[in-house]
Amino acid sequence: MYATQDLRDEHEGIKVALTVLERLAKEIEANRPVSLDDLGQIVDFLKMFADRCHHGKEEDLLFPALEAAGVPRENGPIGAMLADHTQGREYIRAMNDALTGIPVDRKAFAVAAHGYTQLLTNHIEKENNVLFVMAERQLSPEEHATLAEGFERIERERIGPGVHERYHAMLKRLEDEYLTPPEGS
Ligand SMILES: [Fe+2]
Ligand SMILES: [Fe+2]
Repeated sequence: MYATQDLRDEHEGIKVALTVLERLAKEIEANRPVSLDDLGQIVDFLKMFADRCHHGKEEDLLFPALEAAGVPRENGPIGAMLADHTQGREYIRAMNDALTGIPVDRKAFAVAAHGYTQLLTNHIEKENNVLFVMAERQLSPEEHATLAEGFERIERERIGPGVHERYHAMLKRLEDEYLTPPEGS
């Protein structure tokens, strides 16, 4: 199995969070009340799961392995992905600042949330369809096995045992609450 499958699975989880985030940003723009607690949980998920853990696996292990296999970093797909990660961190900081301000800056939150959603949706498409395909074609089965081990280690070290499961339960709750139509509709 390709090590990239783990990253593809994580992309699906991140996409659920992005869809809920986009939905809540639209509610804010329509001046309707939203759960600040849920917004806080989504920002925490993006910070810890998407950036610290998922982007950590890519930056510390996958991208260097691709570079070693001859994929260019500067002016190439790896550099472009790194630039997206950096810009994403700025959006996360902006969402966090808007949410922890007194009073909460709902408008600034919505602007940063839209920016982040757009950036990361495109980013995930590019990785799934271009960069991961390169990794699947160019890295050997041994390299994929080494990457997979490294991914597990990063998961343990950066977010700790059991936390992944907790995030998946949170995504399921958000999905049920915001994305599943009520029975009978
Ligand atoms: Fe990425
Ligand atoms: Fe990714």
